[in-house]
Amino acid sequence: MKIKSVRHLNGEVKDLEFPGEPQEIDGSKLLALPALIDPHVHFRVPGGEYKEDWKSGALAAVTSGVTTVCDMPNNTPPCTTLERLEAKKAQINAQLKSVGLPLRYGLYFGADQGHFSEIPKVANSCVALKIFMGCSTGGLVVDTDSALEEAFQIAAESKMLVAVHAEDEALLQKKRAEFRGNRRSVTHSLVRPREAAILATEKAISLARKYGASLYILHISTKEELRLIRQAKADGVRVFGETTPHHLLFSMEDYKTLGTLIQMNPPIREKEDQEALWEALRDGTLDTIGTDHAPHTLEEKKLPYGEAPSGIPGIETLLPLLLDAAAKGRITLERIVELTRKNPEKILSLPSNEDLVLVDLEMRQEVEADRIKSKCGWTPYAGRVLQGWPIYTILEGKVIRASGLTPKKLVGRSLREGYRNEERDSGFAKS
Ligand code: DOR
Ligand code: ZN
Repeated sequence: MKIKSVRHLNGEVKDLEFPGEPQEIDGSKLLALPALIDPHVHFRVPGGEYKEDWKSGALAAVTSGVTTVCDMPNNTPPCTTLERLEAKKAQINAQLKSVGLPLRYGLYFGADQGHFSEIPKVANSCVALKIFMGCSTGGLVVDTDSALEEAFQIAAESKMLVAVHAEDEALLQKKRAEFRGNRRSVTHSLVRPREAAILATEKAISLARKYGASLYILHISTKEELRLIRQAKADGVRVFGETTPHHLLFSMEDYKTLGTLIQMNPPIREKEDQEALWEALRDGTLDTIGTDHAPHTLEEKKLPYGEAPSGIPGIETLLPLLLDAAAKGRITLERIVELTRKNPEKILSLPSNEDLVLVDLEMRQEVEADRIKSKCGWTPYAGRVLQGWPIYTILEGKVIRASGLTPKKLVGRSLREGYRNEERDSGFAKS
């Protein structure tokens, strides 16, 4: 197969040739970018296969320009021993083989006080040690100072990157008690307040300093954490920061229309945090964008606040949301490539590859739940019209049609219209 006259970011125009069909395609409207790495997904194997598995997850990834994912350990059972890690890898490999998609992947190893002695055994086969400093989906948590000290020390000695979910568990517990029984989804941002994130980020940075560990702070959501990271970087601490598309694009006002659909941990914050996050992406304070793709079924997400699980899907909307932001002048294409490919490759020590995504920067299309290939089958971005879509993904020299080419199946049905969670949010909804 030949895709003719494809533009590259350095201005070169080239024909791309791939083994297989003798077909020729005009690529003159396409721009080739390095395929993306999503450094933060929850593909739910083992234990949550009804929400996602590596067959649906891989399809969602490769049809969206993502050819590498790094998967989190909060499975059932959690990935906290060498034996479970090996079993998980075997399951993943079998699932990828069954769909013929050689998605590239790395795995995080879960820190669990009962299994700290397992950490050195997996140091070379995982991308990082994941520490949940506050409880989220699944029971994993390391919440005492002495256990945190130990985990950072072992990781530093094993030369393993430490990745943290930075929310302070003691403060979360206090707030949970304070707001118990409240059914308004907006409460979520108060139950898990910004102070919890700031406190934990501060603590993680000081532990990284003390033990000489490399630190990767996941899903940063507040402007104060950005200040802490800026300072730590200036002091020479090896600290890296990730934010998510949802923390960049949603604010607390969106609970009114989306309710528990946008309930996630850490929660969405204020408009001024959004602006600070965009600025930090541009100025280098933040290093990566991870989707925290955390699928739950729509039935689960429609439960009232207090029963609905936290987490939203995101891998399929990552690239169009970023290209749309580039079209609006919020970020450059060069910076997108650094954030979604060059930096995660370096920080997570992933092997380099030649994968590409060919995008059409002019294409405008509505985000539709019916196009979603994740098993969860919904997206909180439904109804948004975005400019800039992936058309082909090149994975290991194989050309895969991206979602941008999937024919529109249903017109005018957006999740926003079909879902009325806010009715349950008594006292918050306007109508
Ligand atoms: O919102 C979230 N969902 N945050 C997490 O930390 C975990 C994730 C999940 O696994 O559902
Ligand atoms: Zn996560």
